[in-house]
Amino acid sequence: MDHSPITLPRLHNYHEIHENQLQNIVYDALVFATLNGLLVGDKSDQRSGRVAGVGLVHLPFSLLPPPLPQTYWKQASDLAPLFNQLVDRVSFDGFFLQQSLSKTKKADEFTSRLLDIHSKMLQINKKEDIRLGLFRSDYMLDEKTKSLLQVEMNTISTSFSGVGCVITELHSCSFFRNILSHYGKLLGLDSQRVPVNNATTQYAEALAKAWSEYNNPSAAIIIVVQAEERNMYDQHFVSAILRERYHITTIRKTLAEINQEGEILPDGTLSVDGQAIAIVYFRAGYTPVDYPSESEWSARLLIEQSSAIKCPSISYHLVGTKKIQQELAKPNVLERFFENKDDIAKLRKCFAGLWSLEDLDIVQKAIEKPELFVMKPQREGGGNNIYGDDLRETLIKLQKAGSQEDAAYILMQRIFPANTEAILMRNGILHKDRVISEFGIFSTYLRNKDKVIINNESGYMVRTKPSLSDEGGVLPGFGVIDSVYLT
Ligand SMILES: Nc1ncnc2c1ncn2[C@@H]1O[C@H](COP(=O)(O)OP(=O)(O)OP(=O)(O)O)[C@@H](O)[C@H]1O
Ligand SMILES: [Mg+2]
Repeated sequence: MDHSPITLPRLHNYHEIHENQLQNIVYDALVFATLNGLLVGDKSDQRSGRVAGVGLVHLPFSLLPPPLPQTYWKQASDLAPLFNQLVDRVSFDGFFLQQSLSKTKKADEFTSRLLDIHSKMLQINKKEDIRLGLFRSDYMLDEKTKSLLQVEMNTISTSFSGVGCVITELHSCSFFRNILSHYGKLLGLDSQRVPVNNATTQYAEALAKAWSEYNNPSAAIIIVVQAEERNMYDQHFVSAILRERYHITTIRKTLAEINQEGEILPDGTLSVDGQAIAIVYFRAGYTPVDYPSESEWSARLLIEQSSAIKCPSISYHLVGTKKIQQELAKPNVLERFFENKDDIAKLRKCFAGLWSLEDLDIVQKAIEKPELFVMKPQREGGGNNIYGDDLRETLIKLQKAGSQEDAAYILMQRIFPANTEAILMRNGILHKDRVISEFGIFSTYLRNKDKVIINNESGYMVRTKPSLSDEGGVLPGFGVIDSVYLT
């Protein structure tokens, strides 16, 4: 194995950029971000999460893309159709899902409620002929082993397909070419090395094709949203393409509204406020916070019982849990879902170490060296993982309690990516920092009965965060959105 350090291109010597020049680049980048919709609602304006066009601020972003050797990028892209297939195949195995999550069910109320809906669908033998997945698989490059390891597979509410394309644009095309004509020699950059990003159009295309398969020209797509959503502009990128290119209407509703206005017609059609729904596209519903009362759970069940295409279905959602990720990494489990040995090897190669807390040797090791592990509950949306001393204390507490509570968590090998230098833009202010990056590959999957219509890698989104920060979330303020510079 080659253990030489990964060489960074000169662009990361930002100290070489003269302060005046840097200020000019920053100014141009901030204007570009605003003109092109790299925007979120500003926390400091109370209405920004509810009223469009009010209290806008640029999404935190990185001024220059981080480097990644091309081979790893190809590896991640090639994995996309395999992970699509894996999610789809696992989703058919209701027994595997229920069995693998049976202990988690006892320890985690949220997962338990999802499993209840899944059980009900198994009982009535609910068939989902049209299956639509808009996924994102996240990776980090472990420096020591030089291996690209999967952080996780997101199967619900995968965000940043819209704004991800804008940051690519900022780093590569019009804006950067402009910068390069001024500063190219100094930065040593070639804009061709930032890969093309078609995430928004591919997400829209997958939704549009699924809508066509549903075959009701008067039906709309409903986007399930949170009552307050500061990341709404990311979602509107897809809606805009659906409207302009495909003439498909999208409507935005919360789960509570769907509960009030929704019904299932005798033929199985989901109708919301009198409007037939072809697809329910979840951009909410992935966290307990999205279910403050029984109304939201009723809405989730109603949707699942209807004939509308669910993006994702309850089973696709469950396949994306941390517990299933850990089960799939056990020996001989992938073999249940794939016959081709090459496919299995490719998937397994990107699995980090993953363990249940039933593995007492690993628990002991994690208590001794917590810095080598990440402890994860069954949650999405960031900010839930446990690290370092907290991890040790939590494990000791769980051991003492001797309860079933430990089944709510998994342990994961901590991935250590190489540090690079970066210029991060937050709230119009420049920060220089040492950072690490996480590379998210979007993918789309569509099948109708046995016919696979789409199974593609579909663009990307990179998150970069200060190397000392554990969490990577962009909206909570840890990370910034980024693209990639292939070396
Ligand atoms: N094994 C790991 N090694 C190092 N860092 C990790 C690891 N797992 C997670 N992280 C960090 O924690 C962040 C959140 O982890 P993860 O993606 O598993 O949680 P999540 O709540 O599902 O987040 P998301 O909103 O991205 O879906 C990641 O973006 C990454 O920065
Ligand atoms: Mg996630």
